[in-house]
Formats: sequence, C-alpha cells, structure tokens
Amino acid sequence: MFTEIAYGSDLYRQSLHLREQVLRVPLGLTLSASDMAGEDQQKHFGIVEQHALLACLVIKAGRKPLAKLRQMAVAPAMQGRGLGRLLVDATELWLRQAGFDQVVLDARETATGFYQSLGYLVDGPVFQQVGIPHRCMHKLLA
Ligand SMILES: CC(C)(COP(=O)(O)OP(=O)(O)OC[C@H]1O[C@@H](n2cnc3c(N)ncnc32)[C@H](O)[C@@H]1OP(=O)(O)O)[C@@H](O)C(=O)NCCC(=O)NCCS
Repeated sequence: MFTEIAYGSDLYRQSLHLREQVLRVPLGLTLSASDMAGEDQQKHFGIVEQHALLACLVIKAGRKPLAKLRQMAVAPAMQGRGLGRLLVDATELWLRQAGFDQVVLDARETATGFYQSLGYLVDGPVFQQVGIPHRCMHKLLA
C-alpha cells in the first residue's frame, strides 16, 4: 500500500535502514548526516505491507512547480516485481495534486533504464556522486 511516511516515525526509521542497506552499504558507506539534512522539511513516501516498509523515496520540493526525487530504494528481495513503478506512479499522482508539474532526479547510471521506462528523460553528461556514475533526468507530469 502506498503510504506517506511521517518524519521521525517508526516507518521513517525503517526508511533510513532500507536506504542505508540498499543505497550505501553496497558502496562501503553509511547514511551520512548530509544524506539526512533537511529531511524534516521533505516528503517521504513508501510501499508498506503488514507494517514492513518494502520501498521508499524522498521528495524535496523546490519552488513549485519543480520537485526533486531522491533516495529511491526497493528492498533487495522485492526488486523487479513492480514496486518501484508503483511507488513512483503514486508519488507523481500526489505531486500533481499538490501542484507540481516537473520531477527531476540524479539517477545512478544503472537505474536510468528504470526511470526511462517510467517516462523520464536523460539531461546532460555522466557525473560522479557517492563514487559512482549518475545522470540527471527529468519528467514533465501531464
Ligand atoms: C532501481 C529500483 C528502484 C527499481 O525498482 P524495482 O521495483 O526493482 O523496479 P520495477 O519492478 O518496478 O520495474 C519497473 C520497470 O523498470 C525496469 N527496470 C527495473 N530496474 C531496472 C534497471 N536497473 N535497469 C533497467 N530497467 C529496469 C523493469 O524491467 C520494469 O520494466 P517493465 O515495466 O517494462 O517490465 C530498484 O531495483 C532498486 O532499489 N535498486 C537498487 C537501488 C537503486 O539503484 N536505486 C535508484 C537510485 S537512483
């Protein structure tokens, strides 16, 4: 079930754990203070089943109509089953209803195919972030 996650809640703590396990530990890193900076002002969404968080992302709202999607992670055992698509689709619907009409993100190069399948376009060249190649991407919400 698509769920908004309250900052500081038990689900938020689960999301920090999931993000660290999926996005940082494989790179030999931990979730840093800068990864979490300002998150009390950001939106947190996830897919939850029986109180367990299976997927999550963070939305940093810029000045409307632009929103930045960051820290997208699906639990390893649940990847490739459509949860990522479900989470992004539901978040885009929430964003449209909240008055946003464009989403930007920094995609890991290995994940650009996922975002392209959801209608995101690549902007510009490869750059390094957390030691791995990334591409800027965006999508105009219809
Ligand atoms: C990348 C990630 C978010 C995708 O979520 P997911 O639940 O595994 O993806 P889904 O099952 O919803 O896939 C949706 C579509 O994208 C495709 N897809 C998924 N991952 C892909 C990838 N890495 N490259 C290319 N296509 C991909 C699927 O084949 C599917 O296509 P289809 O609808 O035509 O069948 C997830 O695998 C993940 O957390 N990976 C590790 C962390 C990561 O890379 N996060 C993104 C940081 S920018």
